[in-house]
Amino acid sequence: MADNFFPEHGPRHFLTLMDLSPAELRGVIARATELKRSWRAGEVIKPLKNRVLGMIFEKSSTRTRVSFEAGMTQLGGAALFLSPRDTQLGRGEPIEDTARVLSRMVDCVMIRTFEHDKVERFAAHSRVPVINGLTDLVHPCQLLADMQTYFEHRGDIAGKTVTWVGDGNNMCHSYINAARQFDFRLNIACPDGYDPEPELLAEAGNRCQVFRDPLAAADGSDLVVTDVWASMGQEEEQAQRRQAFADFIVTQELMARAHHDALFFHCLPAHRGEEVAAEVIDRPDSVVWDEAENRLHAQKALLEFLLVTSKAA
Ligand code: CP
Ligand code: NVA
Repeated sequence: MADNFFPEHGPRHFLTLMDLSPAELRGVIARATELKRSWRAGEVIKPLKNRVLGMIFEKSSTRTRVSFEAGMTQLGGAALFLSPRDTQLGRGEPIEDTARVLSRMVDCVMIRTFEHDKVERFAAHSRVPVINGLTDLVHPCQLLADMQTYFEHRGDIAGKTVTWVGDGNNMCHSYINAARQFDFRLNIACPDGYDPEPELLAEAGNRCQVFRDPLAAADGSDLVVTDVWASMGQEEEQAQRRQAFADFIVTQELMARAHHDALFFHCLPAHRGEEVAAEVIDRPDSVVWDEAENRLHAQKALLEFLLVTSKAA
């Protein structure tokens, strides 16, 4: 029987990119590429045989849900989709009690929710690893896939320049953390009033610089990244945001300011004609579909790291 309980050290969690060391992050990404190769070759490996992942979704999802669920099955385990609509969480059962109970039944828990402190409170009361599947603050799983995609297409990202265009949101915050962990420069172009969290920026030191002109931010960039103008939970601000972000669109003109071989990333879902022009995201050599696929491989590697590798260490 699987021994889920880590009485001495407590389980490892993945609530932000800062929860793993740079070497561990690189190890997970290298493993993701290997798992991708082996999956494509039809090899069957089941390091998570009989393991169960509980997945709590308080926001919508296509990629996160399907990649975790397919990933667990491919590694020999199973995943449970838990929505607040039909669990006691939606009727006010405390997150701490939910953590105590679920973590005695499953081997790992993934949570997508609003407040970041909810995943922290869950993790503090969990006997098993907790993975952040997106909060209002950060989206670290997406960054594993993004870094894997950059490595696979262009090699190491250390020393490169990345440009973020748009909202200083959860994805932008994860790029700030990634700039620290993977050692790249990050130019952040966002409208006044939509800056990222100042503490996160301060922690990243002089690696990150805020711009008001997206074209200037893209100069000499190796990777241009954007995301929706209004995130989940900000639906009522949509009209106001459409005005504020009108100039923060990734166009061909903007991509022309970046290096000739610069990549374009988007975590998806995308709004063509808003944050990105169709001719950029739909270019024949667009890598956003590889980026989405890599959610599967990167999270399989993360699950293996949390449930097997880090326990053996
Ligand atoms: N990028 C991403 O997390 O997509 P979903 O919202 O579909 O999970
Ligand atoms: N910033 C977006 C990302 C979606 C994957 C949101 O939080 O809705």
